[in-house]
Amino acid sequence: MSARKKPSVLVCRRLPDDVQARLKRDYDPRFNETDRVYSGDELVKLSEGADAILACHSEIFSADVIARLPKSVRAVANFSVGYDHVDVKAAKARGLIVTNTPDVLNDATAEIAMLLLLGAARRAAEGERIMRNNEWKEWSPAFMVGTQVTGKRVGVVGMGRVGQILARRARGFDMEVHYYNRHRLSPDLEHGATYHPTLESLLPVSQFLSIHCPATPETRGMMNAARFALLPRGAIVVNTGRGAVVDDEALIAALKSGHLGAAGLDVFNNEPNVHPGYRQLWNTFLLPHIGSATRETRNAMGFRALDNLDAVFAGQEPRDRVA
Ligand code: 8YV
Repeated sequence: MSARKKPSVLVCRRLPDDVQARLKRDYDPRFNETDRVYSGDELVKLSEGADAILACHSEIFSADVIARLPKSVRAVANFSVGYDHVDVKAAKARGLIVTNTPDVLNDATAEIAMLLLLGAARRAAEGERIMRNNEWKEWSPAFMVGTQVTGKRVGVVGMGRVGQILARRARGFDMEVHYYNRHRLSPDLEHGATYHPTLESLLPVSQFLSIHCPATPETRGMMNAARFALLPRGAIVVNTGRGAVVDDEALIAALKSGHLGAAGLDVFNNEPNVHPGYRQLWNTFLLPHIGSATRETRNAMGFRALDNLDAVFAGQEPRDRVA
């Protein structure tokens, strides 16, 4: 039996060992030894003659880059659920197959949302800083008093796969769940949560707000000054969706003025060059985009991306095709 030539794949970032092992077994991978983020020009140049690209959200596939990709490249398989880094319209126009990795990171991301919600409410980052800097002088009844989570109301923006799990975790803290979504969920998925057809209806009842929606033309800058003003005084905002959903200046101003109690953020505009205003505030709990960063999830994301590539090269429709 003649050995079939393995498809060549430009692998943009260093992936988990088991994922790289499967890549070596089934493909002819071009690994990125330094794990540096490739520019658009590099994506074009390094994929010359490759059949596919395995990318992360760190690589930007603009319309220009997509137009310049070598003809040999049939697919971009993303190691991410979000695909706002890819110009989907341009990909469709070029006939480029684009896939993502949904489902497998739901639990890990909901864990981080809950961590941020608890940490922001109970001033975990501030407490940790005090301990590390050896600044704990004495205990007092007024020391480090935060906001209780148990029994409060949480507003979920984007009740998709991750939002639904966050809601389940929040119910474990006896929280009352309200949500805004483009469509109302069926009662079996709602689990008693209250649906709001508009953000304007959800925000005033949200003592906590957890953002889970992707960055799309409709959601970019959606959480602006007017919308933050609708939250009750002292509300706590958590974002594990995409930084682009939030207007940074507006959030920082609301945190500074005391209108908002705190924010827990894992995603930012212009990562990793985060707006410096966040670092200067004591009432922010900041993480460096680690929503999906568990060994289990990163392996699952890699395997899911490879399943999608396998389908492409077997002439089948990949399960997670977004373009
Ligand atoms: C990933 C994410 O770590 O999957 C996503 O959309 O935002 C993250 O959890 C990242 O995108 C990996 O490329």
